[in-house]
Amino acid sequence: SKPWTVPALAEAKRNGQKLVMLTAYDAGFARAFDANGVDLILVGDSLGMVVQGHDSTLPVSVDDVVYHTRAVAGVLERALLVSDLPFGADATAERALDASLKLLQAGAEMVKIEGAGFKLDIIRHLVEREIPVCSHLGLTPQSVLRLGGYRVQGRGDAGKQLLDDAKAVAEAGASLLVLECVPTPIAGRVTAGVAIPTIGIGAGPDCDGQVLVLHDFLGLDSGHRRPKFVKDFLAEGGSVAGAVRAYADAVRAGIFPDAEHAYAS
Ligand code: KIV
Ligand code: NA
Repeated sequence: SKPWTVPALAEAKRNGQKLVMLTAYDAGFARAFDANGVDLILVGDSLGMVVQGHDSTLPVSVDDVVYHTRAVAGVLERALLVSDLPFGADATAERALDASLKLLQAGAEMVKIEGAGFKLDIIRHLVEREIPVCSHLGLTPQSVLRLGGYRVQGRGDAGKQLLDDAKAVAEAGASLLVLECVPTPIAGRVTAGVAIPTIGIGAGPDCDGQVLVLHDFLGLDSGHRRPKFVKDFLAEGGSVAGAVRAYADAVRAGIFPDAEHAYAS
């Protein structure tokens, strides 16, 4: 079996071992990431933007994520595979279970769900049925219509709510927690406040691990304003394998993200 399992994640946090995660959508990149020390691969619904060319993640279907999950799952020898439940697929417990089974049958080992609130019952529903869950809090891109855009979350009073939500998703049984676009001190407080590992993207260096979107990590122009936390590791590493090693080394050394790639407050 592969070295990265669900229990190994909690053990990594207890040991202070940083987790290195990237998104991938196809076998070629997945193989390069797996072979060069990436611990977790996410088939993100970011595929709606970076692969399909939409301007949000909302149009992505379960079948889309299944297709890319199958392409990635076939080549992994080391990394744990997480796949996103796309918009609407977690609207009810029944839909979420159905979609999660499809993702697991395609090779995912954990499904990711954005938000807390009524999603807590859905997390519980899946975990009770032996489906590992990764939670995603802070900036949740599936909330873009309500939010009116993509911006930093958890500032001011919202920081306390974020901490409460993080404790609640852990209590509901989530095994992992992605924190997106959250001020560094808030992400640090959340990380200290839960036993499950946190994976930051735009959430500062104090998370238990980091994730970046493949295309951002390689410095490709997304057609959108480049967020502050994005770093072009291809420029640093000189090749895809070199970029992965540069990123993994920087995450494990705690030097990525630096202040320039994080939100101080
Ligand atoms: O879809 C995605 O790529 C994600 C990451 C940004 C965490 O959810
Ligand atoms: Na996502």
